[in-house]
Amino acid sequence: MNLLIATRNRGKLKEIREVLNLDSSIVKSSLDYPEIPDVIEDKDTLEGNAIKKACEMANATGCWALSDDSGLEVEALNGEPGVYSARYAGENCSYLDNINKLLYELDGIENRRAVFKTVLCLANLVGEVRTIEGICKGSIALTPTGTEGFGYDPIFIPDGYKCSFAELATNEKNKISHRGQALSEAIRQWGSILSQFNK
Ligand code: IMP
Repeated sequence: MNLLIATRNRGKLKEIREVLNLDSSIVKSSLDYPEIPDVIEDKDTLEGNAIKKACEMANATGCWALSDDSGLEVEALNGEPGVYSARYAGENCSYLDNINKLLYELDGIENRRAVFKTVLCLANLVGEVRTIEGICKGSIALTPTGTEGFGYDPIFIPDGYKCSFAELATNEKNKISHRGQALSEAIRQWGSILSQFNK
């Protein structure tokens, strides 16, 4: 059986493939299945959306499916945008639209504390479902910096650093990020399944 990474987000794919050291001949992603429609992310938790994405893609393809649902929770905004991080500035908005909206909402606010969260889900066709959470604490910058990564990376400064995620190479981001932490834990907990798909 093959493994499918249940996302079309190239930034996530790059980070996941790098940490898990996956064999690209047996590990596909949703990009390889353009005929399968996007899974509708209508749950009100990251865990709910991660489970939905992995189970729907495992059912559609017969593969093991690994999904990731992530969100940025900003303290001064009562945890927003959270599970709605992808469409914070509206349907079909760009990464830049989301960044600009968040900076606008935080204009003049001193408390810039925030936490990035990821829930990974590994599911198969017979309904085995496992989840793992990863978090990374930090703060929201006053202006965007850096060109690496994706999404909110240019405005997220992880604790202990003076630069944004977007100023870190993928392997450096993976050492400390919400997704990197969840993936490291996935290797510990799910290693016997995931190792079948290694290079
Ligand atoms: P989703 O998990 O695809 O629903 O992502 C939620 C939103 O958070 C999207 O706008 C992503 O671009 C953004 N996002 C997810 N992971 C990261 C990350 O590691 N860095 C920056 N933005 C991210």
